[in-house]
Amino acid sequence: MKKVLVDLTETFALGKKIAEALPENGVVAFYGELGAGKTTIIKSIASTLAKIDPSEVTSPTFSYMHIYPNDVYHFDLYRIRDVKEFVFMGFGEYLRKGICLIEWAERIAEILPEDALKIHIRHVDQNTREISYES
Ligand SMILES: Nc1ncnc2c1ncn2[C@@H]1O[C@H](COP(=O)(O)OP(=O)(O)OP(=O)(O)O)[C@@H](O)[C@H]1O
Ligand SMILES: [Mg+2]
Repeated sequence: MKKVLVDLTETFALGKKIAEALPENGVVAFYGELGAGKTTIIKSIASTLAKIDPSEVTSPTFSYMHIYPNDVYHFDLYRIRDVKEFVFMGFGEYLRKGICLIEWAERIAEILPEDALKIHIRHVDQNTREISYES
């Protein structure tokens, strides 16, 4: 387990590094309270993989999922009720179709692939986050 303290620039650099090390069709689960920085690091990971501008990567809070180029899927499951709803929406099929970046992944703990990369983000102070992940 790696644990780092990062500012915003370093969060972006770490996201790029993680993106470049991801296996094909890898699933990445993000954990951390509201405003921790899940969407922020996903902006870096998804824009690197999809070769788009980070500003095009936005939180899919109300739609649950955004699709970016190169089969990059970005989920925000804060408002999903349970795993059943996730499966009913047909989202289960995306899990091995491309890279899946999942905010609030605890909502689908029961069906999260065992080999998912888990990234925990904790608010330290206004500009600092603690990011822990396996590497
Ligand atoms: N070191 C840092 N790393 C990441 N974000 C930071 C850092 N310092 C400040 N921030 C700011 O913290 C905020 C994090 O918000 P973000 O939307 O990424 O959180 P979130 O975990 O996705 O929240 P939610 O659960 O609401 O989706 C952003 O405004 C970002 O600019
Ligand atoms: Mg978010």
